[in-house]
Amino acid sequence: MNNYKNSVIVKNMSKAFGQLQAVDNISFHVHKGEIFGFLGPNGAGKTTSVRMLTGVFPPDTGQIYIAGYNLLDQTLAAKMRIGVAPESANAYLDLTALENILFMAEMYGLSGKKIRKRAEELLNIFNLLDRKNDKIKQFSKGMRQKMILCMALINEPEILFLDEPTSGLDVQSRYLIRNIIKDLNQGGTTIFLTTHNINEANKLCDRIAIMNKGEIAAIDSPENLKNTFVSSQSVEVSFKFGSPNFLDNLSYANSIEKRGDKYRLYSDEPGQLAMKLIEQVKSSNLGLNSIRTIGPELEEVFIKLTEEKKE
Ligand SMILES: Nc1ncnc2c1ncn2[C@@H]1O[C@H](COP(=O)(O)OP(=O)(O)O)[C@@H](O)[C@H]1O
Ligand SMILES: [Mg+2]
Repeated sequence: MNNYKNSVIVKNMSKAFGQLQAVDNISFHVHKGEIFGFLGPNGAGKTTSVRMLTGVFPPDTGQIYIAGYNLLDQTLAAKMRIGVAPESANAYLDLTALENILFMAEMYGLSGKKIRKRAEELLNIFNLLDRKNDKIKQFSKGMRQKMILCMALINEPEILFLDEPTSGLDVQSRYLIRNIIKDLNQGGTTIFLTTHNINEANKLCDRIAIMNKGEIAAIDSPENLKNTFVSSQSVEVSFKFGSPNFLDNLSYANSIEKRGDKYRLYSDEPGQLAMKLIEQVKSSNLGLNSIRTIGPELEEVFIKLTEEKKE
C-alpha cells in the first residue's frame, strides 16, 4: 500500500488544442480525505484537467501524482486506486444495469460472488436494485447518471473523480447523489468534484479551486473565499407600507440596491446597520415586512474572479 498525504499533486500542468490553451500551467494539491471542488464556467478547462488526471490523455507539460504514484510512469498502479465518473459517459445501452457494473469490474480484474454482491449493494444505494435486470436503454437520464456512479465505485476507489455528476438532473436525484458523495467522503474516500454549480461547491467542498480560462483564479475553503470580499456583506429589508426616505442617510450603509420589493444595503457592519434600520422603522409608519443580514456570497466571489480576466 502506497503511503501518501496528498491524493492528487499537480505541477505545472498544461494542455493546448491547436491555438487554444485549454489548461494553462496549473498547480495544486488535493489533500487525502477532502472533497475538493473544481469550479468554473463552461469552457474553463475542468473536463480537460480531469481527463489528464485520470489518464485519458497525457498533459503537454507538467507532472501528476495520484495516490502517491507518478501517473505518467506508474499508470496502472495509479488507475487501480481511482474511480471515474466522466462528463459525457454512457453505460452500454444493450447491457443490463448489473451487467454494466460487472463488466466494469472485469476491467479492474475483479470478478466472483463478492463483486456481484457489491454490485447489488451499489445498485441498492442508488435506488436501482429493482431495475438490475433492465437494459440501460430503458433508463432515464438521472438513472443513467447513477449507473455511471455505480460503475465508478465498483473497485472501492480511494479517490473518486466526478465530472459534473448532478448536471441536468432533477432535485431528488441531485439530492441523492450529493448525499452519497458526503457518505463516501465520511467513509474516507477523497473526492475530486468538478462542477459549474456554485451552490453545490459551497455545500459539499472542503476547498475549491476556481477555474477560469485554463487557469486557477483562486483556491481556498468556501468561507475563506467569501471573506476575501468583505464588502459584499449586506442587510436585506422590505417594508409593509410605502417606500422609505431614510435609507439614503443611514449610517453604516455603504450602498443601496433595490431588488424587487426588497432593499439590499451593503455594509461593513451589517449587525449595527440592522439595528439602525429597526430604530428608523419604529419611528415611521412603514412597518417592517422582513429583515435579514446576508454574509458574502460565493456567487459574488466567483463572478468577480471570473470577470476580472475577461478581455
Ligand atoms: N478535444 C478537444 N478538441 C479541441 N478543443 C477542445 C477539446 N476538448 C476541449 N476543448 C476546448 O478546451 C476548452 C476547455 O474545455 P473543457 O475542459 O471541456 O471545459 P469545461 O469542462 O470547464 O467546460 C474549451 O474551449 C473547449 O472547447
Ligand atoms: Mg466539462
